[in-house]
Amino acid sequence: AVLILDFGGQYSQLIARRVRDCNVYCEIKSYKTPAEQIAGAGYKGIIFSGGPNSVYAEDAPVCDKKVFDLGIPVLGICYGAQLMAYLLGGKVSSSEVREYGKTPVRAQANAALFQKVPEESVCWMSHTDYIAEPPAGFTITAVSDACPVAAMANEARRLYAFQFHPEVEHTVYGTDMLKNFLFQVCGCSGSWKMDSFAEETIRQIREKVGDKRVLCALSGGVDSSVAAVLVHKAIGKSLTCIFVDHGMLRKNEGDEVERVFRQQFDMNLIRINAQDRFLSKLAGVTEPEQKRKIIGEEFIRVFEEESRKLGKIEFLCQGTIYPDVVESGTGEAATIKSHHNVGGLPEDVGFEGIIEPLRDLFKDEVRRVGIELGIPANLVWRQPFPGPGLGIRIMGEVTPEKLEILKDADAIFREEVAKAGLDRDINQYFAVLTGMKSVGVMGDGRTYDNTIALRAVTTTDFMTADWARIPYEVLETVSTRIVNEVENVNRVVYDITSKPPATIEYE
Ligand code: XMP
Repeated sequence: AVLILDFGGQYSQLIARRVRDCNVYCEIKSYKTPAEQIAGAGYKGIIFSGGPNSVYAEDAPVCDKKVFDLGIPVLGICYGAQLMAYLLGGKVSSSEVREYGKTPVRAQANAALFQKVPEESVCWMSHTDYIAEPPAGFTITAVSDACPVAAMANEARRLYAFQFHPEVEHTVYGTDMLKNFLFQVCGCSGSWKMDSFAEETIRQIREKVGDKRVLCALSGGVDSSVAAVLVHKAIGKSLTCIFVDHGMLRKNEGDEVERVFRQQFDMNLIRINAQDRFLSKLAGVTEPEQKRKIIGEEFIRVFEEESRKLGKIEFLCQGTIYPDVVESGTGEAATIKSHHNVGGLPEDVGFEGIIEPLRDLFKDEVRRVGIELGIPANLVWRQPFPGPGLGIRIMGEVTPEKLEILKDADAIFREEVAKAGLDRDINQYFAVLTGMKSVGVMGDGRTYDNTIALRAVTTTDFMTADWARIPYEVLETVSTRIVNEVENVNRVVYDITSKPPATIEYE
């Protein structure tokens, strides 16, 4: 394994992810980890992450200096590079200007970490301090216009440093550089796979839980499903899952979730059919934020009531994934919508501990684990679905009649997108009941009925999105089918707004 010492940089997880992408197992630990502990763990290499600080700051994170004497190769990145220079007697200076963004870097042709990398390539820089002089024994292996030491190395001691960020996609040859470190320098074999992650995680859960019990709120989404299956593999029937069906799931979804988890995985699953309860709370409510709040709160009430019936359960399992951790970390962003996650239960429910087996993973890694665990592909590849469900895809008041219309229209849309083979290319697609009625003609009669909007977007991070260019023929089939097969709909429109300015959902 490779150890990533975390100095608080925003990219520490990304480094881990890149390393895992090279099929090398890695662990992230605090920069405070003592050298003896590192020495005993058999790491093949150490990577210092970046960090927000200057080595001269009063509270600058500083690692155990003996780390350099363990004979384990070290790669310092950004702050980690500066710290290496500083601790080993080089000179770090503060610059007036920040070097930020894509920067051409010129490397020494024979430097170990720049093998198979062009002499000049674009790297991602983000720093104000810089290494002015490398420590004794080091050579400068790369420079940029603003950086006298964009990279340095002491090949004899196998110590390396990059001022830039090889883990960021904008560093065009970043992965090659990391591979040079992992394979050429550290001698990693590159045979680790996601199933080793599953194995290791299952072992850890078993150890942590012992003979205690775990409760999980299952939504049927990818994250909570994969988390639940990991815990289930670890402790079997000591896990109880509560699946709150608020009645605003997609067509047949509740039954599907129940079938997979109860029958295929033989889990302890409690399904609560709470549609009436949610709908009565939502009666007469039209304001989007209020709808979201009601659904979120009611969800927690139902979950609490049910979990109380089960007696004392020590642990709560949540499907938190890494982007959730990052997003909730800043707290600075304006509230556009108050997101409700079925995983996001309050901590005061009285658990001893929380189990979040996916905390370090990105979405596509979660999917890979899901496949390894034998979760059906249609569930693993399920598109994101908001916690408040169809409740926020019906503009205005939510009623059972409207839910029926929307479920049917949405099912047709999804079916046709899948039939056209577009379901993995379009990242999210669904129908919306717009709340608008319009005049139409059917047979010889006038109609005055509902308008369904189709929403489909392509995106990588769901923070920005473009509307999907679905072929007209597919849209035509969807429109014809919806108007013919779904009662009380006489018009279908396609949404051609990107995000921003629109959001993906309508409320
Ligand atoms: P917006 O509409 O903000 O949506 O562009 C971005 C992504 O977030 C999903 N979404 C939610 N997910 N709970 C969730 O778990 C929520 O309350 C929620 N609201 C929106 C939305 O489906 C899209 O993928």
